[in-house]
Amino acid sequence: MKFFADTADIAAIDELVPTGLVDGVTTNPSIIAKSGRDFKEVIAEICKIVDGPVSAEVAATEANQMIAEGRELAKIASNVAIKVPLTWDGLIACKTLAAEDTMVNVTLCFSANQALLAAKAGATFISPFIGRLDDIALDGMELIHDIRVIYDNYPGLKTEILAASVRGANHVRMAAIAGADVATIPPDVIKGLVRHPLTDKGLEAFLQDWAKTGQSIL
Ligand code: G3P
Repeated sequence: MKFFADTADIAAIDELVPTGLVDGVTTNPSIIAKSGRDFKEVIAEICKIVDGPVSAEVAATEANQMIAEGRELAKIASNVAIKVPLTWDGLIACKTLAAEDTMVNVTLCFSANQALLAAKAGATFISPFIGRLDDIALDGMELIHDIRVIYDNYPGLKTEILAASVRGANHVRMAAIAGADVATIPPDVIKGLVRHPLTDKGLEAFLQDWAKTGQSIL
């Protein structure tokens, strides 16, 4: 499963990139607002430090304006993926931009039928929002499972499942089990994946016993 960093925080991305764990980045208008940065500038900066897809979301809601904004954002760098919401206008914009070989990430997906529409419209990625479904006592992971089954039934559908609205380590684990192609994950959640108390306890014991040998490797 590919990991995308769900952030526009340059420092957080810089910290993660050396681990080789960042296969791409996703942003959305809320993430951009939180960054306090100029939208196009921060996307350009991210595209320079991350080789993989960097999602930049249009602000328009009407198809022709979405297409115009998408074409403008695509000029920033070759690894920009244009994010459009899962609406009829978003699907029209997806179809047009995908036909121009622009990567498209169709976002705000909350049903399997929506995901089927996005794949038929040529989306590169579909972003089902796990956490927001869980927030209203629905089952976000069931959506990932359903989309995986549907997409696998039709090999002609090339859209990758990009699990989004990931809130913690269990979402990452379950998305991988469900067969998501990508998970877009907040940087702190990525960093937290490495932690386990038994690892810490075991390492401490190894170091104590090694110290007793009085030996050194170098
Ligand atoms: O990539 C979508 C993600 O940023 C939304 O997360 O926590 O606002 O539902 P959240």
